[in-house]
Amino acid sequence: MEIVLSGIRSTGNLHLGNYYGAVRNFVKMQHDYKCFFFIADLHSLTTHPKPDDWMASVKQVLCEYLAAGIDPEIATVYIQSDIPEIPELYLILNMLAYKGELERTTTFKDKARQQTDNINAGLLTYPVLMAADIIIHKANKVPVGKDQEQHLEMARNFAGRFNNLYGVDFFPLPDAFNFGKNLIKIPGLDGSGKMGKSEGNGIYLSDDSKTVEKKVMRAVTDSGPTHKNQKMPEAIKNLFTIMEVVSTPDTHSYFHEKYNNCEIRYGDLKKQLAQDINKILDPIRLRLQDFSSNQDYLRKVVKIGRDKARESASKTLSEVRKIIGIKEF
Ligand code: TRP
Repeated sequence: MEIVLSGIRSTGNLHLGNYYGAVRNFVKMQHDYKCFFFIADLHSLTTHPKPDDWMASVKQVLCEYLAAGIDPEIATVYIQSDIPEIPELYLILNMLAYKGELERTTTFKDKARQQTDNINAGLLTYPVLMAADIIIHKANKVPVGKDQEQHLEMARNFAGRFNNLYGVDFFPLPDAFNFGKNLIKIPGLDGSGKMGKSEGNGIYLSDDSKTVEKKVMRAVTDSGPTHKNQKMPEAIKNLFTIMEVVSTPDTHSYFHEKYNNCEIRYGDLKKQLAQDINKILDPIRLRLQDFSSNQDYLRKVVKIGRDKARESASKTLSEVRKIIGIKEF
């Protein structure tokens, strides 16, 4: 069975865009592939997070994935910092990564421009750690967004270089997992392209219903169509796109018709949209609260994940050591 792996930033509450764009697909995929989902907390060290915030953000991300439907009994769900084999493989791969290619990485160049006072080596070797994350389980497929494609290509290069250097066919070269037509893009509510954390236009799984309402009611609109079957401007089209995802087909076509007949009242549309988003978020929010307050259960989930992930990681690493020539005396 193919192995699918995805890393989740530990800094970031899930928004509706993440949910429809990726997490809902993960929930389906866990039944068809051997899935590893992990929280990439070591990567966040590049920005020196405060110790007091560390566990809180890991816990939040973990609870959100569980609430969204990831099943820790089926998939392997773990925390990166629980697996010491990852940093060891990272060290080994660092010897195969060239300074020049690391410096040319787009994300590194962006980060180096943004945080000029902290261009640390971890930032430079971020793609090496990510490669270690992936190949430690010999993953075949990695669902990644556009911004991570270069990192995945580098992971492929490092894995291939290891194979070549030692004359082995050990690591599979990981490919992007393409959701195809299941890839749903949720636009932002501010008339801009996509919902995103950095865009500040997101509806979060952890938002309460009042907050969702407020955000939707504030969404950018215009003064309304002036003639029948008028082409929609971006901001209005965005609202309809979200509606297509969260509302029933009847609701969507009802408002679409109203728009085409110049009878649309954006207030009504938004009220309906907020209601339908809340209908989807209500059960997720309930589960989120349940998980957040159940420390015993979370501890169990983390332990199950750690045990499964370490079993797989230590198997890979001991073979890597053998291939390199590190053997017991
Ligand atoms: N770099 C990824 C991001 O910023 C997170 C990540 C870390 C990751 N390690 C990974 C993703 C391994 C996929 C595979 O979103």
